[in-house]
Amino acid sequence: MSKGWNITCEGLTVRYRTRESYTTALREFNGSFASGRITVVFGPSGSGKTTLLNAAATLLKPTEGRVSYDGKNPYELPRTELLALRREIGISFQQPVFVSQLTLWENVELVLNSSGKLDDEHRELAVYLAKQLGIEKLLSKKSHEVSGGELRRASIVMALAKNPSIVILDEPTAYLDEESSKQVVEILRELKEKGKTIIVATHDPELIGIADVTYRLRYGRIVGSERGS
Ligand SMILES: Nc1ncnc2c1ncn2[C@@H]1O[C@H](COP(=O)(O)OP(=O)(O)O)[C@@H](O)[C@H]1O
Ligand SMILES: [Mg+2]
Repeated sequence: MSKGWNITCEGLTVRYRTRESYTTALREFNGSFASGRITVVFGPSGSGKTTLLNAAATLLKPTEGRVSYDGKNPYELPRTELLALRREIGISFQQPVFVSQLTLWENVELVLNSSGKLDDEHRELAVYLAKQLGIEKLLSKKSHEVSGGELRRASIVMALAKNPSIVILDEPTAYLDEESSKQVVEILRELKEKGKTIIVATHDPELIGIADVTYRLRYGRIVGSERGS
């Protein structure tokens, strides 16, 4: 399965509870993320971008409103179907997560394994992506032995090596130089050609420039939305 899904958010509200109070990080977000489209979420720090991505990824349950995948509420699916859906989501977190005792390559394999995709086809895809991003020589290193930008690129390889239907990248070009950022743009174009559902949170004008649809957030609300060509 590698087609995209159409993800729709209706009245999506996420509130975080803290000890004394709560923060409404996302307020009544209405929008959609379509297959074969690059949708970019942008806005200042703290505006709710990461919250929206995590809610769209079914990693954060809405406080109010809903997220649906091809019209279905993921939280109403049988457990096994929800897990199967999550295996189709490739996500690169804003703060990439690695098992520090393992090499970058072993981290990639761990993700492939947990998605039931630890085979030659997906290993080859991982190597292809690592070459594209210029980190193939670093795969034998551990996460503390490489730079922030290199880790960011490794986390993109981890997200994409399983050939997911849904690609969610949280600030993928943060800490990247111009050359690496261009490679990320190229990869996003290729994913779009394949009909993936692509959601990106960013401040990077280059990425905003290739979006088919943008949502601009401020204090958890949409303050602008544009549809490209
Ligand atoms: N786990 C959390 N607990 C409490 N508040 C949070 C948590 N995560 C984020 N927030 C708050 O929610 C708001 C939106 O955060 P976030 O979605 O990370 O925004 P962005 O990605 O645009 O910087 C911010 O005010 C942030 O401080
Ligand atoms: Mg964020």
